[in-house]
Amino acid sequence: MVLKKKIVVVGTGYVGLVTGVSLSEIGHTVICLDIDQTKVKKMKNGISPIYEPGIEELMKRNIEKGTLDFTTSYKQAFENVEVIYIAVGTPEREDGTADLKYIKQVALDIAYNIKNEVVIVIKSTVPIGTNEFLEKYISSLTKVKFHIVSNPEFLREGSALHDTFHGDRIIIGAENKYAASIVEKINQPFGIEIFTTNLRSAEMIKYASNAFLATKISFINEIADLCERLEANIEEVATGMGFDKRIGKSFLNAGIGYGGSCFPKDTKALVNIAGQEKFDFNLLRAVIEVNKKQQVLLVTKAKEYYGSLKGKRIALLGLAFKPNTDDMREAASIITSEKLILSGAEVVCYDPIAMDNAKKVLPEVVEFANSAEEALQNADAAFIMTEWEEIKNIPISKYSEKLRDKVLFDGRNCYDLNSFLVEDIDYFSVGRPSVLSKKQLV
Ligand code: UDX
Repeated sequence: MVLKKKIVVVGTGYVGLVTGVSLSEIGHTVICLDIDQTKVKKMKNGISPIYEPGIEELMKRNIEKGTLDFTTSYKQAFENVEVIYIAVGTPEREDGTADLKYIKQVALDIAYNIKNEVVIVIKSTVPIGTNEFLEKYISSLTKVKFHIVSNPEFLREGSALHDTFHGDRIIIGAENKYAASIVEKINQPFGIEIFTTNLRSAEMIKYASNAFLATKISFINEIADLCERLEANIEEVATGMGFDKRIGKSFLNAGIGYGGSCFPKDTKALVNIAGQEKFDFNLLRAVIEVNKKQQVLLVTKAKEYYGSLKGKRIALLGLAFKPNTDDMREAASIITSEKLILSGAEVVCYDPIAMDNAKKVLPEVVEFANSAEEALQNADAAFIMTEWEEIKNIPISKYSEKLRDKVLFDGRNCYDLNSFLVEDIDYFSVGRPSVLSKKQLV
């Protein structure tokens, strides 16, 4: 027998919207609350403010069923609410620490608006000890009984719905067994293994998981650099390593580093959290440094190739921090285009989905093309920044046909090296031998 609850999700960013929609899909009655009126109006009509495959279909279905609604009114949302999920952002401050102002505001709004006993579930990524702080903070403002539960999310953008229904684990952190059991029952229909811990461990599991995955990426990128120097091939090396179950096959793709809303922010936050305990998290600081180097790797390679980039017109293919998302947060394309422009190059770019967001964050002088082909037209060289299917499917002959200097720098190892042996083009990728148009691997 599934326990059906009346749930309010506060915050309809990535995490909040996906959580709300998924909880309604498994049978709960969900109201998503956000202060942005225009966004709420759109969502009520089944229009998602984020690009996420499959989300609008689920939104529409559950809105029609009457199990999903959106509002800007705390009063309306909190009427007879049983469980409140907090899913607002914890952005990075200048010094790398997490900014908790949105969470504190929501805590205040909850304290002033709840009328009956509730379980408050924290989805947002918060520094260790924050859940305990929230417990004390809310108790100081209301007499209504409530319980705090930490339930960090591990969704990947672009496959967030798949991850919700097929994730590896659900972490529930609580000091109160009753509250933990409610959240456990809410999540049971997902059919995913649940691991229950105390509040602080749940908070740490989230940071440690992201920091570990970021470490895996920086590690393989350092091995890739060595592979280039020692004439090994990172793809063969990573595949060979991945057979070892202790290492695992995933997250060993070398490239131009990690971006997005989580890894860059959470790694820096964990270094800061450690620093506050007078602990120097050396390893994680190195992971962050390696990633900085990696994000501009193609500029470094192009400079080595050309000597100077002055006057060169470079086409950037793919702008989002990874495929299947329009998210530009911490995307390597930002720092890459800034560096190219500083080096005197012209930049023309294309992304299948992220162009609108890219226009807000890329330097003003960057030109935007309507297709990959248009970007390549009259460019001297091209950089592949994001491994979109559309980009991986560009025939190699297109590059040699369109690019003036016939040189391609591939930051995501999209092509098989052998396919360049028959093309009149120089090809540089990450951790693999280069292919020069004299038709040899070097
Ligand atoms: C990540 C975590 O995977 C997720 O569990 C957490 O909740 C949020 O952060 P996301 O940021 O959506 O999810 O993307 P992910 O697919 O993990 O990729 C992050 C970055 O790492 C991307 O820039 C990607 O290109 C890069 N990456 C990933 C690599 O460079 N190599 C890899 O092998 C894997």
